[in-house]
Amino acid sequence: MICKYNDLDFDDWKNLNIDVNSLWLINKRDKNGKHKNIYHGNFIPQIPNQLIRRYTKINEVVLEPFMGGGTTLFECEKLHRKYIGFDINLEDAGGNSK
Ligand SMILES: C[S@@+](CC[C@H](N)C(=O)[O-])C[C@H]1O[C@@H](n2cnc3c(N)ncnc32)[C@H](O)[C@@H]1O
Repeated sequence: MICKYNDLDFDDWKNLNIDVNSLWLINKRDKNGKHKNIYHGNFIPQIPNQLIRRYTKINEVVLEPFMGGGTTLFECEKLHRKYIGFDINLEDAGGNSK
């Protein structure tokens, strides 16, 4: 059974790696791919990853109005979602223009 809000196959729910607890215990921050972990206040990537997989389908658009170091956008790329990201801070963590 595929839900209309996402691409998750609930018949295979044990293998979905979706955290159904009210408290998410994330042992280790995902540092793979583009995640540099240098932007002040950046997300643990597993958080937007869970939310994107729960509430969007492949190729849908995710809007990130507080993009910061881009964690959500990098997870969108990994999960084949399109994205629009912006931030009031015109510089990334390295002081480079975004
Ligand atoms: C906690 S950080 C977000 C970090 C981001 N989720 C990440 O993982 O890298 C919050 C961001 O919101 C931005 N921000 C604050 N007020 C804003 C506003 N009014 N419009 C757009 N961005 C804003 C800040 O510049 C900062 O980059």
